[in-house]
Amino acid sequence: MNVETSVLPESVPESVPESVPESVVESQAADDVLRCTDLRRSFGKVKAVDGVSFRIRSGETYGLLGPNGAGKTTIISMVSGVLEADSGSMEVDGVEMHPGALAAKAAIGYVPQDVALYPDLTGRENLRFFASLYRIGRRQAQDRVEEVLDIVGLTERAGERVEKYSGGMKRRLNIAVGLIHRPRLLVLDEPTVGVDPQSRNAILSSVERLSTEGMGVLYTTHYMEEAERLCDRVAIMDLGRLIAEGTPRQLTAQLGDAEHIRLTLEGDPTRAVAALRELPPVTGVTGTGDMVDVLVPDAESSLPQVIQVAAGHGTVRSVTVEEPDLETVFLRLTGKRLRD
Ligand SMILES: Nc1ncnc2c1ncn2[C@@H]1O[C@H](COP(=O)(O)OP(=O)(O)OP(=O)(O)O)[C@@H](O)[C@H]1O
Ligand SMILES: [Mg+2]
Repeated sequence: MNVETSVLPESVPESVPESVPESVVESQAADDVLRCTDLRRSFGKVKAVDGVSFRIRSGETYGLLGPNGAGKTTIISMVSGVLEADSGSMEVDGVEMHPGALAAKAAIGYVPQDVALYPDLTGRENLRFFASLYRIGRRQAQDRVEEVLDIVGLTERAGERVEKYSGGMKRRLNIAVGLIHRPRLLVLDEPTVGVDPQSRNAILSSVERLSTEGMGVLYTTHYMEEAERLCDRVAIMDLGRLIAEGTPRQLTAQLGDAEHIRLTLEGDPTRAVAALRELPPVTGVTGTGDMVDVLVPDAESSLPQVIQVAAGHGTVRSVTVEEPDLETVFLRLTGKRLRD
């Protein structure tokens, strides 16, 4: 496994180059909306988060990408001050975060998967209510409510009662609630899971717009397509740790010359995976259902051998050479697929 940053091409700068003057480094640090250092949290014997550090700058969308149980929600809950860390430190917009830190919490818009909305009230009335909780004055609240409705694309439906909303519309209203106090950092936990395509698109567009306007965004997902579309930087997580971090381009560049062959196999994929693992050029292999993913340095030259070995354990139905992506990176680093 070769994931050192030294394998990155020279044209892709890694964080701050050495030649950058100290003053510039400082001003970038001052622009951080979130700094997490060595966060840890266990539940019994499970190390849900096991020494995690990262930072998010203003205007940056930062993605935590990882499979079920990787520790994404645990990180988000600590960052948002709803769960105490066992150790480590967090600063939100320069203010230390812990469950009693009101100033730090005010700088965050935390959107959990389900917020208690009032079904009898309209979308607009719900937002006015949450604005009043933040003690935003009446006139200002009116403007803010229209502003956040516009961001999430619900202006047209704002006069309807929430009980009439689809799941995706409720999710968008949740995001609007998270934005009502104009936070510096928006924290979204898998916001598109289980929503209809129209709402999913609206959510992704809202995040893109907010980021352009300078908001920092912490976004968790196990959809690598979303991470690739939205995130300036991505941390790939597994078992409570960040196992790689960088722009999507940097991360796929770390693969060097790895190429990704995908087979569908009718037969015994588990035995095919075991046999393929023994082939010398194969640097990674995994099977999910009838799909087998194989990493090799050169797909063209290895293809006949790979197909021959797979065919020894079933009927090969299709073979494709995939463009390396974040899924490939995850497979290379962990030997697993992001989604089973
Ligand atoms: N309240 C809790 N009590 C016990 N174990 C927990 C608790 N919360 C999380 N865990 C465990 O900690 C680990 C990380 O869970 P977490 O929910 O942070 O993962 P995740 O990356 O958000 O996963 P998912 O994609 O399924 O949402 C898992 O092993 C989980 O079972
Ligand atoms: Mg989660």
